[in-house]
Order: sequence, then C-alpha cells, then structure tokens
Amino acid sequence: MEERTEIVICLGSSCFSRGNRKCLPVIDKYLKDNNLEEKYFFRGSRCFNICEKGPILKIGDTIFEGVKPGEVAGILKRTLR
Ligand code: FES
Repeated sequence: MEERTEIVICLGSSCFSRGNRKCLPVIDKYLKDNNLEEKYFFRGSRCFNICEKGPILKIGDTIFEGVKPGEVAGILKRTLR
C-alpha cells in the first residue's frame, strides 16, 4: 500500500488564533468530500517555531505561510492529487 502524504496544520497558539482554527474543519471536510483520506494523513502539530510567518500549513515537504481560511480550499485544490 502506498504511504500517505502528510498534511500538517500548526495548532500552536499563534497560528491557531490567527486562522488555523478555521482552516482545520475546512481541510477535514475537503478530504472527506473528495475521498482523499486514504491518500493523505491529516494531523495537527505544535508550533513550527516560525510564528511570524504563520499561519502555517505543511503538505508533504512544502510549507505554506500566511495561510488564510478563505484560501485554504484553493491551496488544497492546487496541491492535492
Ligand atoms: S504557532 Fe504556528 S509556527 Fe508558531
């Protein structure tokens, strides 16, 4: 079986309060609606120690900075296959 790619959302207090709180359910729903749960493993993480660049989202090896709740669906659409 293929290994699942990780999607990691920063749940540190800075990222969480500045938008990741709202991004979390959006990502969760996107994966469910598109039957991507077998391909991607979605989890939360502690602070990445780059709070000033947050909110942070990591998909595979790519780090997305300054992620806004309104943009997260677009990021997923462009990045996940
Ligand atoms: S809280 Fe997200 S990088 Fe620090």
